[in-house]
Amino acid sequence: MSDKPERFIDDEGLRLDGRRVDEIRPMKVEMGVLSRADGSCYLEWGNNKVLAAVYGPRELHPRRMQKPNEVLVRYKYNMASFSVEDRIRPGPSRRSTEISKVSGEAFEPVVMTQYYPGAVIDVFAEVLQADAGTRTAAINAATLALADAGIPMKGLVSACAVGKVDGQLVLDLNKPEDNYGQADLPVAMTQDGEITLLQMDGHLTPEELEEGLEMVKKGCQQILEIQREALVSRYGNEDEEGEEAE
Ligand code: CDP
Repeated sequence: MSDKPERFIDDEGLRLDGRRVDEIRPMKVEMGVLSRADGSCYLEWGNNKVLAAVYGPRELHPRRMQKPNEVLVRYKYNMASFSVEDRIRPGPSRRSTEISKVSGEAFEPVVMTQYYPGAVIDVFAEVLQADAGTRTAAINAATLALADAGIPMKGLVSACAVGKVDGQLVLDLNKPEDNYGQADLPVAMTQDGEITLLQMDGHLTPEELEEGLEMVKKGCQQILEIQREALVSRYGNEDEEGEEAE
């Protein structure tokens, strides 16, 4: 029997988890949680729990894989077998391979790859508990883990999904909305609003797509604020220190 809810949005405009259509789930981040990694971040977003670890830049072996003029950024997304209701078979799957590829590419415009020719930066994103939106949660954690590792970047990357349920656009889909909704559009963008990842499942009209991208941009801006606060609380605010020194 399907556990599809009859309605996703009530007469008050509230979703099954009490959020408004343009509200993201609560997000909590902690940086520097792993001592062996060069950079790390633990992130909770609603019921998602994700750990990101960055190793490098370090020498890449075998040498034939080295890029002579830039660093190679490798991104590995993995769902722990205990992270979902039905146990996931350990090891790569088509889904995780695809998510790893597009998520790694989402960082290409921001990581200043020219600084470490021939080296590799490994980003590992481990989903410990999954509840819809894990690829976006992983990207949000990975960008902070990269910053924690001191990787030179032009800015941060923030990610969020928008979708459609009951014929209405909703920001940051929860599990029932993801499972039974009419569309799911995960997006990642730089802090300047340049889209670096865009995937889509389901159907949206061109007008809905345009409106959805506006919604997701606002969601990403809120996430960027949370990411900035995490950076400031770990490393302090350079502007304030500069002011004090004057
Ligand atoms: O997690 P994300 O939304 O990025 O990816 P998805 O493929 O749209 O998956 C949506 C949700 O379905 C995940 O967050 C998990 O909660 C769940 N899922 C699952 O239970 N088992 C899988 N093998 C894959 C996903």
